[in-house]
Amino acid sequence: MPTEAMVNRTPPSPDARDQRLLELIGAGKIAAPDNEVLADIHRRRGDLAAAAAEYRRLHAKKAGAPRIDLLNAIFNGGNAPARLPQSDFAPAPFVQFDGFFGHALNQHLLDYAISRQDIFRPTELQAADQYEKQRSTLVTYEVGSPGEAMRAAVSERLPLLCERLGMPVFDIDFIQLKIAAYAAGDFFKAHQDNGLSHTGRRISFVYYFHREPKPYRGGDLLLYDSRFDPRAYVRTLFTRIVPHNDSIVFFPSEYFHEVLPVQTAPQDFSASRFTMAGHIG
Ligand SMILES: [Fe+2]
Repeated sequence: MPTEAMVNRTPPSPDARDQRLLELIGAGKIAAPDNEVLADIHRRRGDLAAAAAEYRRLHAKKAGAPRIDLLNAIFNGGNAPARLPQSDFAPAPFVQFDGFFGHALNQHLLDYAISRQDIFRPTELQAADQYEKQRSTLVTYEVGSPGEAMRAAVSERLPLLCERLGMPVFDIDFIQLKIAAYAAGDFFKAHQDNGLSHTGRRISFVYYFHREPKPYRGGDLLLYDSRFDPRAYVRTLFTRIVPHNDSIVFFPSEYFHEVLPVQTAPQDFSASRFTMAGHIG
């Protein structure tokens, strides 16, 4: 039978460890480290403003270090410089916009999704390990007039997106769209969007919409530091994107990413974590 001492030896979760370190630094008990540790904590916790400030500070001190240059560009809105070597684990570039659609279109999309619950279907994508379920959400590919608005808004921003994501501008062949509803317990484990059956996808995006006040917790998007030769990602190094109503995030499709489980009212479709997600190729 476990004793209290044994229970207390349980290693803290990464979240708890990050929280503790922040408290110690905040209380002046340990000095802020002169490396990426603190910035990594901020982006792991989804505090993107704090991460941006920390990368700015590091960049001012260490201009010329490729990793800091890249992170500073990603978080402070500069153009992403040349990517790191393919064998390195690189942080995922991303571009985020708040108030993307505005209230009227955002509300229209929410009304559309909630009133069309009947057109949503469960996903059945399985992991390479067929015993482990990779994904649990409801989706529909019938995106209605909000889908047309999304195609137009995304196309218009392509040059800016390419610049910020560090990729050459390209002619759009397709914009794939779907609306997803994450109900209680739904998730999407770590994956890439341009796998074997989905070649040609270059930029992925997720637009968030939901009832106000926000009816769910969780459902954070983790963008993992990834490498591509060979393909792998670092489980403990990621940027957390916390869903905000009417915000959108874009990132290169090849970076590994994950959606954490959602906590919301069971059996209430309107309380879902809704997204309109897509791929530009
Ligand atoms: Fe994805």
